[in-house]
Amino acid sequence: MVIDEVKLYNYRNYGELNLKLGEHANIFIGKNAQGKTNLLEGIYLSSVGRSARTPRWQELIKWGEKEGSTFVSIRKAFGQDSVRVKLSDAKRVEINGLPISKIGEMMGVLKTVYFSPDELKIVKDGPGERRRFMDIALCQLSTTYFYVLTRYNTILSHRNKLLKNSPSDEAIEIWDYQLAKEGAKIVRTRRAFISRLLPLAKEIHLDVAGEDLDIVYEGLDGTTTAECENVFLEALARSRERDKAFAVTHQGVHRDDIKISADGIDLRSFGSQGQQRSAALSLKLAEMELLKEESGEYPVLLLDDVLSELDSSRQTKLLEHIKSYQTIITGTSLAEDVREQIGKFDEFLVNSGTVKRIGAE
Ligand SMILES: Nc1ncnc2c1ncn2[C@@H]1O[C@H](COP(=O)(O)OP(=O)(O)O)[C@@H](O)[C@H]1O
Ligand SMILES: [Mg+2]
Repeated sequence: MVIDEVKLYNYRNYGELNLKLGEHANIFIGKNAQGKTNLLEGIYLSSVGRSARTPRWQELIKWGEKEGSTFVSIRKAFGQDSVRVKLSDAKRVEINGLPISKIGEMMGVLKTVYFSPDELKIVKDGPGERRRFMDIALCQLSTTYFYVLTRYNTILSHRNKLLKNSPSDEAIEIWDYQLAKEGAKIVRTRRAFISRLLPLAKEIHLDVAGEDLDIVYEGLDGTTTAECENVFLEALARSRERDKAFAVTHQGVHRDDIKISADGIDLRSFGSQGQQRSAALSLKLAEMELLKEESGEYPVLLLDDVLSELDSSRQTKLLEHIKSYQTIITGTSLAEDVREQIGKFDEFLVNSGTVKRIGAE
């Protein structure tokens, strides 16, 4: 899929922006604090309904204004779609001009993969970042997954709240049962995701880094949904006293992780920074391929300030890949070697909330 138009209205430091994009690389160059990340954030918001930077959508409205919005028009193999996110007293989303009642309905309409210097740390950072990596991809692939995950998080917060009030075992068990039911679905879906991702990531990583990459889901065992539920219930029962003592739920998919290793070395704790960055790049590129395999079309790749963070060999690998899909790239400058390798591109200059097209190749 290809974004052909982006409009921002009172969004962050943008007053009114109307932008037409090219179908290959779109490069946005500008000094710091001009609005490059804000533009990508607005596109990402149109994709998954939230910012990658803040959970508070109120912060996205231009200072001093009461309402703002983003609009993205998307060309797909079978027709055109649009997503509008309106921010005022509430966050409202329209798909093709029609308001949706549940945020889940927007999942997958605009599929994106977001890659910023923060994502370069997914291998090194805590398990939360790696769960987010899986969850965001899965939510875009399956509305059902989004709803299951939302339910799980609601149940989890109810259970944690209950734990603070010296509850009876019976009262906790009611939540355990529900948590295990949703948790089992999540584990199974994530394990399937990792097993689909693995061969793609292996192939890309061999090319990027010349190493044998391995990814293993770390969570409660079980093959069938029923098995997973039972294992989950038993684990919750075992940790109940500890849960009560700390008023938190120690077991569950909100604690799971993925182990990422190269040539047998666990990169989370023993990888060099270079190895960790290569693996992060391989994971993101594999995510692009997986979303394409699952939905028939490439998503749009959003690259915020990462080119300058990669050394030239990794940069070259990345640039080879992006020729296959639409990419929106930001940076403070465009190096000559990048310009030569990038293929077809449109170039724009970002200057305090305005965007000027400066050329096309
Ligand atoms: N809600 C807002 N209203 C107006 N300006 C904002 C808002 N939020 C952030 N900004 C401004 O946006 C700028 C940062 O833009 P950003 O896209 O992060 O810059 P960069 O080009 O470095 O990626 C800062 O100058 C900040 O003050
Ligand atoms: Mg930025």
